[in-house]
Amino acid sequence: MADTGYMARKSVAEIIASADVEEGRHLSKTLGATSITAMGIGAIIGAGIFVLTGTAAAQFAGPAITLSFILGGIACAFVGLCYSELAAMLPVCGSSYTYTYATLGELFAWIIGWDLILEYAMGAATVAVGWSGYIVSLLRNVGIDIPPTLAAAPGTIVKLADGSTVTGVINLPAVVIIAILTTLLVLGTKESARLNNVMVAVKLTVVVAFIAIGLFFIKPEHWHPFIPANTGQFGSFGMSGILRGSAVVFFAFIGFDAVSTAAQEARQPQRDMPIGILGSLVICTVLYILVAAVLTGLVPYTELNVPDPIAKGVDTIGLTWFAILIKIGALTGLTTVILVLLYGQSRIFFTMSQDGLLPHFFAKVHLRLHTPYLSQILIGTVVAIVSALTPIGVLGEMVSIGTLFAFVLVCGAVIYLRGSDSEAARPFRAPGVPVVPVLGILFCLLLMVGLPLVTWLRLVVWLVIGMVIYLSYGRNHSVLRHPERKHT
Ligand code: ALA
Repeated sequence: MADTGYMARKSVAEIIASADVEEGRHLSKTLGATSITAMGIGAIIGAGIFVLTGTAAAQFAGPAITLSFILGGIACAFVGLCYSELAAMLPVCGSSYTYTYATLGELFAWIIGWDLILEYAMGAATVAVGWSGYIVSLLRNVGIDIPPTLAAAPGTIVKLADGSTVTGVINLPAVVIIAILTTLLVLGTKESARLNNVMVAVKLTVVVAFIAIGLFFIKPEHWHPFIPANTGQFGSFGMSGILRGSAVVFFAFIGFDAVSTAAQEARQPQRDMPIGILGSLVICTVLYILVAAVLTGLVPYTELNVPDPIAKGVDTIGLTWFAILIKIGALTGLTTVILVLLYGQSRIFFTMSQDGLLPHFFAKVHLRLHTPYLSQILIGTVVAIVSALTPIGVLGEMVSIGTLFAFVLVCGAVIYLRGSDSEAARPFRAPGVPVVPVLGILFCLLLMVGLPLVTWLRLVVWLVIGMVIYLSYGRNHSVLRHPERKHT
């Protein structure tokens, strides 16, 4: 590699070759197409649909939240096609980090790797907070009361049943779920994948049952007006409300790309990656649109600003037992999302560490368990602390903007590589390049515009911190620019 400046990039052939050479100390290839699709669904259906649908309908879009989901689905379809091309072409576990390394070079790869922490680690923390809300609610159903101060971030105002309020101190249930899932991931990928398949089946059943049963209780008058008039403020109903709603429920789609982090553990990545990414995306998009339509048909949208809106939808039908089942399904769903996001984060760090941009520690694989155990434990610890101390709203918007930013670069990478590495084998080709990736970029930018200024500022601060770390560590340890430092 002659160019050792910031724009130094790896070629597609180099990336694939380095993955092969390192096979010896590698992660085991145990995942098939079904497990990978289940992994995608595992990562996708979670807090977005179980928590944010209701709040976004109540605050931003009304019944037109269904349109918000369609808009989000269209954006993700374009991005999903791009991801599929790259994941089949570069079956290594770094996800968009790796794709960026091959296109825009090391500096941008670092930026995207750093940005992906928002999607994966912060995403896991966000969903853990959602999990905490549902477990507290379920336990209350069976007569166990968790003190509200111990199930909310410091400073969060919690409203009690009698109308009084208390202030949160720490979110302990979120810590507990992160600790359990981290332990599972340290113990083995195959075991985690198996458990994931079972839990995905449970949550899919619950979501489909909600649609099938709810359909018969819809009151069409709740859909009128379908697009409530704008209140005079950007994002508060009307067309801009649909956009703001889209940007918020975009969180619900996050995760289909997590499939690409498992490429190195797939038995046939060229075939399984596109199936996993596009299959899980299509299934979830259809379900989301239906859930949104049924939910807003069951409950007036103004009443949906609650932590468990789907359970509230079932309550209005009058089936209490089904509400409990929904909560169990939601908890299962949220669990799989956290599992896949924690897994994905460790695999991205694994690749970044092999490139020298992070310390060797992150690529250390346990001899017997074949998992990057040290990294997984560190990630679990940090995520647990963040989820214990941060409110869900702040986390969720950061996750959305960080992910949208990553998606923009992935779409750009497809266009770039078609030119720079036109001869590379592409087992899956995104159709209509460059139109499809360009549309992907435009839709992602549109959704980013829907997020508030403060979220943009937080993204900038996060990226600046990342730059400081790169300049003080990664730049000096990069294997690409200092081949003599390659970890052995
Ligand atoms: N898509 C995932 C969720 O909704 C992150 O929880």
